[in-house]
Amino acid sequence: MNLTEFIEGRRDSNLEELREFLRIPSVSAKSEHKPDIERAAQWVAEKLKTAGFKTVQVVPTALHPLVYAESLEAPGKPTILFYGHYDVQPAEPLDLWTSPAFDPTVRNGNIYGRGTADDKGQVHIHIKALESLQKVNGKFPINIKVLIEGEEEVGSVSLWDYVQKNKEKLKADALVVSDTSMLAKGVPSITYGLRGLNYYQIELTGPAHDLHSGVYGGAVPNPLTILTETFAQLHDKNFRVAIPGFYDNVAKVSAAERKALNALPWKMKEFDKAVGAPAYVGEKGFTTVERLWIRPTFELNGIWGGYQGEGAKTVIPSKAYAKFSTRLVPNQDPHKIAKAVEKQIRKLLPRTVKMKFEVLSTGKPWAAPFTAPIFTKAQAALEKGFGKKAVFIREGGSIPFVTQMSDTFNVPCVLIGFGLPDENAHAPDEHLYLENYFSGIKAIAHFYAALGDS
Ligand code: BES
Ligand code: MN
Ligand code: MN
Repeated sequence: MNLTEFIEGRRDSNLEELREFLRIPSVSAKSEHKPDIERAAQWVAEKLKTAGFKTVQVVPTALHPLVYAESLEAPGKPTILFYGHYDVQPAEPLDLWTSPAFDPTVRNGNIYGRGTADDKGQVHIHIKALESLQKVNGKFPINIKVLIEGEEEVGSVSLWDYVQKNKEKLKADALVVSDTSMLAKGVPSITYGLRGLNYYQIELTGPAHDLHSGVYGGAVPNPLTILTETFAQLHDKNFRVAIPGFYDNVAKVSAAERKALNALPWKMKEFDKAVGAPAYVGEKGFTTVERLWIRPTFELNGIWGGYQGEGAKTVIPSKAYAKFSTRLVPNQDPHKIAKAVEKQIRKLLPRTVKMKFEVLSTGKPWAAPFTAPIFTKAQAALEKGFGKKAVFIREGGSIPFVTQMSDTFNVPCVLIGFGLPDENAHAPDEHLYLENYFSGIKAIAHFYAALGDS
């Protein structure tokens, strides 16, 4: 039986196994899910053994375990490091899910559940592709190292430590990742750029404690008002980030690259369908695709303070809080940006409040040439799986490990995404288009097979 027939014959059993994976609520952000995280790591380790890996380790870390497997039994063949994550985002708000987040359900050609697209479904594609190669040929066509972590959605802190201590062990000719998206349905895509991410939190304190707004209002500072006034000044009328130095090191993207990105089959109509806003905004002088992929941003992610319950409460809050982030592009330096952000906010704040400023995480941007021969092989494999030629795209999301690997080993990083931009990653009703899951297994199996042909 050939590889394609073998994979076709296993559609149902592969999907059934994926559903088992998706039922484990491996939410990395919440300590109550620690046992589920452990269970998911063990589950991944088991499946890698079944796929044919003899060396499989569940490695404990300061936070969540990572799973490492290797098979180095193909002398003279290239060595690939495959990376993915088994942890998922919290499923809340639960009442907005059509079917329960951890009870995966198939509806109109999609599988719904937390982690379907990000990233369990995509990790499973690789496990099943490798298992198929092993079962059809009795061995893997290449040397392969697998690293599946459990902290991606909370910043990959332990992973960084592991990479530093295991540089020799993780060495490979290329990194392969499936944790991104396709440009659109029917358009297989290879991602060659990601934005970096800095995440911040502040606490503003005005009055020493909450106050009656009638008794004191008019003569005391209100930290919530001050917070909103301050953040209102962080964009200018052209929607540029109004922080001195913010754009200083932004690499100029060549006219040729901008032209190529703008010529991709990306549709504003699809974008509008996925977003559903009354109208759109963004930095003047750039197209939507450019605003998403090659320009940095400043975004408020949450503000709170004061009274939010039922009815009215006449109060001047003592404190106001905000969570916010900056997406970064080459060659912005995350640490310099964090300093510039803090400096500007401190400068704008009046003396009437005190601020506690925290940088919760930093992450570098990544963009790299796609000229190595492995990219041609990836493109050919995607064509085998999807019947369409793959395009090269950049994306706005962030994957800390890709930058770390790219910096540490300076090897090609091949990001082959099987998600779609409107599959609600991190949101209610996250789903994965099943045809992409099935075609993905075929494409990845052919990709690894082709790497063994060299
Ligand atoms: N898989 C995503 C990143 C992604 C999504 C890249 C879509 C390209 C396209 C990843 O799981 C993620 O959500 N990353 C976080 C950063 C992390 C440090 C929490 C992000 O981008 O917000
Ligand atoms: Mn992901
Ligand atoms: Mn994610």
